[in-house]
Amino acid sequence: MELKDKVAVVTGAARGIGAAIALAFARRGARLALLDLPSTTTDESVARCQSSGAVTRTYDCDVSDEAQVVRACERIAADFGRLDLLVNNAGILRDGLLVKVEHGKVVRTLPLEQWRAVLDVNLTGTFLCGREAAAHMIRFGHGGVIINISSVSRRGNFGQTNYSAAKAGVAAMAVVWAKELARYRIRAASIAPGVVRTDMMAALKPEALAKLVAAAAAQRLAEPEEIAQAAVFIAENDFFTGRCLELDGGMRV
Ligand SMILES: NC(=O)c1ccc[n+]([C@@H]2O[C@H](COP(=O)([O-])OP(=O)(O)OC[C@H]3O[C@@H](n4cnc5c(N)ncnc54)[C@H](O)[C@@H]3O)[C@@H](O)[C@H]2O)c1
Repeated sequence: MELKDKVAVVTGAARGIGAAIALAFARRGARLALLDLPSTTTDESVARCQSSGAVTRTYDCDVSDEAQVVRACERIAADFGRLDLLVNNAGILRDGLLVKVEHGKVVRTLPLEQWRAVLDVNLTGTFLCGREAAAHMIRFGHGGVIINISSVSRRGNFGQTNYSAAKAGVAAMAVVWAKELARYRIRAASIAPGVVRTDMMAALKPEALAKLVAAAAAQRLAEPEEIAQAAVFIAENDFFTGRCLELDGGMRV
């Protein structure tokens, strides 16, 4: 897909990987619909996209809320008159052991609300945005591309029952959508980053972060712009569909 003048929706676009993807698309001439939580300011991200000449609009939207997602996608379709690309990027972490044991005693189990919080945003949010965006793409009849941001954790990562389940799910959904939506010229794929320098990782303990960096052949964190480059590749390469692009610096064995 040629990105010039296409309409790209990026969720969780206020900062981090989402902001980098939005900017990379803007630099290739796409028009941007940036979604993020009502409580989060997207000003900086919008200013960067606009400074590269891109028409950019923002939409307050909690991706885990069905009514908000439906409304946001309807407004985007009405405001721009088309919808070509969706990047399901919004995500959160709420790590915890399935069962925590201290001195031989079970002291805590992973609370259901901690499981649900991550599944609601990372998995259900991706489902809702993917469903609504695909319906609009089909109505407009121009084809399209959907990119789900998965993670190296989709293979199962210590302390991440909820996150690993969600990230495996979004990679699987991209495969399903690639198969179901190909007849409408819609491609779907996912990206599985390793550890990327964003606020999400800044919340990790330094020793945990050092361990993750040591596990990567690249021996460093990825920059958000490197993930954005992968999103541009998937968007532009019409033969890339139904696959997960692993971008983890050689972390997975
Ligand atoms: N940073 C990493 O190392 C890394 C690695 C692999 C995958 N990822 C994935 O990449 C994506 C982006 O991560 P990041 O590191 O940029 O995170 P981040 O925390 O820096 O940014 C996430 C953005 O998503 C938004 N968001 C959170 N919940 C939302 C909701 N319910 N509705 C709408 N927006 C919401 C936040 O407000 C924020 O702007 C996530 O899906 C994350 O799981 C990150």
